Order: sequence, then structure tokens, then C-alpha cells
Amino acid sequence: IGETPFPEFTVVVMLDDVQVAYYDSNTKHFIYKGHNTSDKIHDDPAQDGAYVFGIIYQSMKERSFHLKHHLNLTEGVQVQQRMSGCEMLDHGEPALIMFKETFNGIFVDHAIYNNMTHFTYDSGTLLLGYYGIRQAYEKALFENVLLPICIKNLKTILKREKNVVMRKVPPRLRLIKKEVSGGFQVSCLAFGFYPRHINLTLLRDGQPVAEQELTVGEVLPSGDGTYQLRKSLEVSTEELKQRHDYTCTASHLSLDNKLDVSWESGVERVHLSILSALLVMLLIVILLGIFICVPKRWSNTASQSKLVNVDANVSE
Ligand SMILES: *[C@@H]1O[C@H](CO)[C@@H](O)[C@H](O)[C@H]1NC(C)=O
Ligand SMILES: *[C@@H]1O[C@H](CO)[C@@H](O)[C@H](O)[C@H]1NC(C)=O
Ligand SMILES: *[C@@H]1O[C@H](CO)[C@@H](O)[C@H](O)[C@H]1NC(C)=O
Repeated sequence: IGETPFPEFTVVVMLDDVQVAYYDSNTKHFIYKGHNTSDKIHDDPAQDGAYVFGIIYQSMKERSFHLKHHLNLTEGVQVQQRMSGCEMLDHGEPALIMFKETFNGIFVDHAIYNNMTHFTYDSGTLLLGYYGIRQAYEKALFENVLLPICIKNLKTILKREKNVVMRKVPPRLRLIKKEVSGGFQVSCLAFGFYPRHINLTLLRDGQPVAEQELTVGEVLPSGDGTYQLRKSLEVSTEELKQRHDYTCTASHLSLDNKLDVSWESGVERVHLSILSALLVMLLIVILLGIFICVPKRWSNTASQSKLVNVDANVSE
């Protein structure tokens, strides 16, 4: 609420991590944004969406006026955010429905209805006095209206987007060694995987390196619908000279077995010195070869030219 260039109320609908629809208080239409789009404007999810988002819009609007008054906020822009959704088990049974709300970034309330038996409502500190009424109201609304609608549409949209959200793309792994000030950084990088859940472990000599020792990034979208994750370890130059085995291991839904790549520190230097010894030996052999062969060839060509000279004399 307040003066902004945006619609007062905006909804983004996600199925797992994929946006499937959009709604706002200007258009009041449920707009399908999934991968499988034909004219889906007038089907069930669209009608239910317009209905449910209408209810949510009204309730959020009432609440924000109430909170604005309660907090003595007379002007400016006030932002209210709500995250809500449902989860379903593999065989289609409803498992959970929840919402969580904030006002100007401050927690307002949270309700969760778990496996169809456990309902909890937390009214926070902003809506004191509402607890009993809201708890009963939200529970009834969840059970009788929102959960059945949410699960029904979850099934419909899942059927449409199955190829996207149910796909399994295995990660690719790289172990990267980079020079940084004061030593080296050994990084374990997993990329190109879907879904986003992954367990990535860096092992030193077969033992997992403690998470506190690691710089752990976030799981980031790569922009092509897959994800990447990096975990890095600082290794001193001293330690790098010692012989250690670094292994990066990933387990992911798409893999039956763990995937790993290894690198042994300290060994590369040994290889390098063997290689340079070989090079020196090769150089000696070449030099010896030059000393032994070249004078012979010189004398050969010298006698040949003498012969040529003799022939020339003869023909003359
Ligand atoms: C809002 O203003 C009223 C009266 O001016 C005051 O009693 C109350 O404590 C204020 N509330 C907040 C949250 O500042
Ligand atoms: C249902 O959810 C509650 C709260 O999260 C949990 O304690 C309980 O174990 C769950 N029951 C089943 C059968 O999953
Ligand atoms: C990651 O590890 C946890 C704990 O061991 C396990 O429950 C989970 O299934 C693993 N996830 C994947 C994607 O392998």
C-alpha cells in the first residue's frame, strides 16, 4: 500500500523452483507462465487461482490497514509479503499446507497444518489479541477450502510440468586448484545438476573436511534451469607440498552411486622433478650425439668435396 508504479497486489506461483503462473490486482487474471503453455486462461487452475488470490488480496489488505494503524504509520509505502503453499506425497496424498506473513520485513504470523493432524498457529507479536479467533479461522479455511484447492491444482500443474520438475540431471564435478595470497585454494565445484538438492563433500585423505574449514557457497541457478555449488578450502603452500589426497564427492538424486574426483598434492612436484631430470638427460644425449656425429659428417663431406674436385680435374 502507498504510491508505487506497481500493482498493489502481485502473486508469483511456483511449482518447486519453476514459476508457473502470475496474478496481479490490475489484471485479476491467472496467467500461466509454465513451459507447457497453450490457452490455459479459462481452465480449473486459472479459475481457482483468481478465486483464491481474490480472497488472499482482501485479507492482506484488511490486515495491512490494521497494522498500519496499530504501528502509527501514516504515510509512505508499506510492504506486506506472504508465502503460502502446499505439499503432496508421491502417491498424491496431501502432506502439508502453510503460510507465513511479514509486514515491512517484520514477522506477522505463521500457520502450518502438517500431515492432516497437526495444526499450529503463531500469531507473533504484531497481532496480539487475535490468537484464538485467527487460529480457529485459519484451521477451518485450510481444511475445508484451501488445502483441497491447492492439492487439486498441484496435481494438474504437476502433470503439465512433469518433464521439467521431475527431470534428473546428474552433476558434473571439477576439483580446481588456484593460487591465492598465502597459499592455494582447492575448490570442489558441482554444476549442471537438477533438482537443486545435492550433498557435496570435500575429503582430505579420506576424511571429510569440517564445514567450518570450508568456504561454502550457495546453490546457485546457472541460468539454463540447472544449478551449481562450490565448496573451497584454503591450503597453505607448506601443506600443498605434503602428500595429501583431496577428493570431491557428490551424491544426488540422479546418481545411483556417489560421484567423485580426486587430486593428490605433493605428487605433482615429484612428477615435475622426474620430468626435468628426464629433460636434462635428453639434453645430454643430444649434446653427446652432436659431439660424436658431427665431426664425422664434417670429415665425410670434406672428403666428398675432394672427390668432386678430383672428378672435376679428371673431366677437365
Ligand atoms: C502510536 O501512537 C499512540 C498515540 O500517539 C501511542 O500510544 C502508541 O504507543 C504508538 N504506537 C507505536 C507502536 O508507536
Ligand atoms: C506429522 O507432523 C508432525 C509435526 O511436524 C510430526 O511430529 C509427526 O511425526 C508427523 N506424523 C507423521 C505420521 O508423519
Ligand atoms: C544428503 O544427505 C542427507 C543426510 O545424510 C540425506 O538424508 C539426503 O538424502 C542426501 N541427499 C542427497 C541428494 O543425496
